[in-house]
Amino acid sequence: MSEEEHGPSTDMPSFTATLKSSKRIIAVAGAGLSAASGIPTFRGAGGLWRRYDAMGLATPEAFHAKPSRVWQFYHYRREKALAAQPNPGHLALAMFSIPSIRQKMAPGSSFSLITQNVDGLSRKALEQIADAHPELADEIHSPVVQDSMLEMHGRLFDVVCTNRACGHREYNTNSPVCPALAGTEKVFSENEPEPRIDEEDLPRCSKCDSLARPGVVWFGETPWYLDKIDRLVSEADLCIVVGTSSTVYPAAGYAYEVQERGGKVAVFNLDRSEGDQEADYLFLGPAEVTLPKALGLQ
Ligand code: APR
Ligand code: ZN
Repeated sequence: MSEEEHGPSTDMPSFTATLKSSKRIIAVAGAGLSAASGIPTFRGAGGLWRRYDAMGLATPEAFHAKPSRVWQFYHYRREKALAAQPNPGHLALAMFSIPSIRQKMAPGSSFSLITQNVDGLSRKALEQIADAHPELADEIHSPVVQDSMLEMHGRLFDVVCTNRACGHREYNTNSPVCPALAGTEKVFSENEPEPRIDEEDLPRCSKCDSLARPGVVWFGETPWYLDKIDRLVSEADLCIVVGTSSTVYPAAGYAYEVQERGGKVAVFNLDRSEGDQEADYLFLGPAEVTLPKALGLQ
């Protein structure tokens, strides 16, 4: 028998039927969801910033050793995210998170979006929908919808005090985040010297003036909402995996866990990704095209 006969289904009507009968739905998203909005992914072509591997900069050790370089990297990412607009993939997931809309595709279901992305574009999508459809605004701003979006790797626009005794965290969309970082987001050639910024001129805590750091989850740190996510994963009967290489844990393990307990898994990715041969459904292509179709929201 050929491999195809054992592999995941690519049949959209069959997925739609599964969606309709699912009661506890989760989506696990990664950088590919935001690719069409111009945000580079981590692995593959976009994975380099200046000459550095983006993942090597996303550690507490890197920040400790070179806070100026790491802040320049996050300043660059903040500026990109600030300028970016949600794409139809974000909008479809945001629409789907609104119960009154979702009832048509998956009656009586619950839904949560577990995203590894820190760019805030999924929340921006919800806000855009609320603006365009005032009749949905109250529902969108209700805890049911707001709390269903779990940014497990934190948020680019949170700025957090590094002094543990203080720990102050604030939401800050200033551009630039501090004057000294202005302009350093521009790509420059390898030969150009890296701008050096004194620690005193990097973002500081507004309460105690200690050095502040980006409010994201770095390698070796604990993702947010883990208890809630574990519960959602253990109860899910459908896991939609969108635009993630499925290589970073714990997120990479959620689809497998859902399947272990008898739930279904549907993968939406531009390319093949880790473990996708085990999925029940596999839709290869840009998620900004396949997802709105699959969720009946185009
Ligand atoms: N539509 C769907 N998928 C896409 C698209 C697209 N338009 N463009 C790219 N992809 C896919 C790629 O094929 C790849 O599988 O998105 C995936 C992106 O993978 P990664 O760059 O590894 O991003 P992600 O899985 O989110 O990384 C996980 O690692 O670096 C850390 O904390 C960071 O949250 C990040 C985590
Ligand atoms: Zn502080």
